Amino acid sequence: MPDDILYTETHRPQFHFTPKYNWTNDPNGLVYYKGEYHLFFQHNPTGITWGNMTWGHAISTDLVHWTQLKHALHPDELGTIFSGSAVVDWHNSAGFQIGDEKALVVFYTSAGKEPVPFTQSIAYSNDRGRTWTKHENNPVIGHIRAQNRDPKVFWHAASEQWIMALYLEANDYTIYGSKDLKAWEQLCDLTLPGVTECPDLFELSVDGDRANTRWVYWGANGGYLLGQFDGRNFTAETDVLNAEHGRHGYAAQTWSDTPDGRLLQISWMRGGKYPAMPFNQQMSFPVELSLRTTPAGIRLCREPIAEIGLLHHETYQWDNYTLAPGTDIVPATKSQLFDIRLEIEPNDATSFGVKIRGIDLRYEGGKISFQGTEAPLAPIDGRLVLQLLVDRTSLEIFGHRGELSMSICYLPEAADNPLVFYAEDGAAHIVSLAVHPLRSAWE
Ligand code: FRU
Repeated sequence: MPDDILYTETHRPQFHFTPKYNWTNDPNGLVYYKGEYHLFFQHNPTGITWGNMTWGHAISTDLVHWTQLKHALHPDELGTIFSGSAVVDWHNSAGFQIGDEKALVVFYTSAGKEPVPFTQSIAYSNDRGRTWTKHENNPVIGHIRAQNRDPKVFWHAASEQWIMALYLEANDYTIYGSKDLKAWEQLCDLTLPGVTECPDLFELSVDGDRANTRWVYWGANGGYLLGQFDGRNFTAETDVLNAEHGRHGYAAQTWSDTPDGRLLQISWMRGGKYPAMPFNQQMSFPVELSLRTTPAGIRLCREPIAEIGLLHHETYQWDNYTLAPGTDIVPATKSQLFDIRLEIEPNDATSFGVKIRGIDLRYEGGKISFQGTEAPLAPIDGRLVLQLLVDRTSLEIFGHRGELSMSICYLPEAADNPLVFYAEDGAAHIVSLAVHPLRSAWE
């Protein structure tokens, strides 16, 4: 495929990251350093399906526009390169720094092949992530159990050590600690019923109150525990909760070292179909995480980052509008890309929704549904607050500023208009509807 038509293909997402060619799955090695957000990704450099796991690499200054760089980590005698994370080693604790540039250090699973077991390895960069050197004494953590994998590392200031969350097998996870990123000591084990793979561990304020925090231990399907972490033990205070209600959100990871204290996360949109495309699979749009007190208790909320606004260029707006049978809203646009913000009171309508490129996104009986995937969303004071990100082959639904989030891949159908808002059986009251067609991030 000639490079000049790349990113313009029929089913190529226009504001979600995809590799130029071939397969991707989990986001890896998310770190910010000197104005650049790094996104590494599980990648098959030679095939359109999973295999030959390698770390692909892209960078962005705004988390919206991405530039793919050359692949960062290739398979070696310890195995292919499975998922992992990255940090900036600000105080050169590992001794990898040689010049003025801080060392970036990545942690990954060396996915050995029988008889070589799965182990954890590290690599570093002295040139802002452009080239990578594998540590000469890899692996840094030997085989523990089964296909143990997916190290996620961060600096824990309170106990003055690096912490690694690691997946073991079944629903079992573990936490390790280190002073120098090379020698690791096991701290505690934990189990997340129903959850496997790709851990993350982070602390967040509740309702923005810095004196009231919870730790979140997260796994690949969006299942998470809330609790406390004291530098040794994670003490759960909840059962497993769920932050991903779509069918395609998986293996999310947060960025390390973000400049402004925001906790930002991106996931693999697992599944979806991309007929005749040179790539396979896409990443989610990045979200900002927060903990908020809801009627059900403290919950992790996921809201699309404000940078989506960089792609806005015009707005169709309806305020105080009665949406009823016969008063459909059909924005006069042929765009395929939207950021939609809707505040609506369902009132007498038994259902309402929006046909997105011919496919029905519907709210009925207290549930929001799209192609058979549904999730409950209760109005607050009679009102629903929704944000929808619509790309060529993905839809992300956010309810009540991220209390509900659903990641979905779809293929569009033939339709005269890309969006048709409707209500059935009675009138719903639209408090406000803003439809923002989006520019492509690849332009
Ligand atoms: C999750 C996962 C990880 C593993 C990687 C391999 O999707 O299975 O556990 O490291 O993908 O590509």
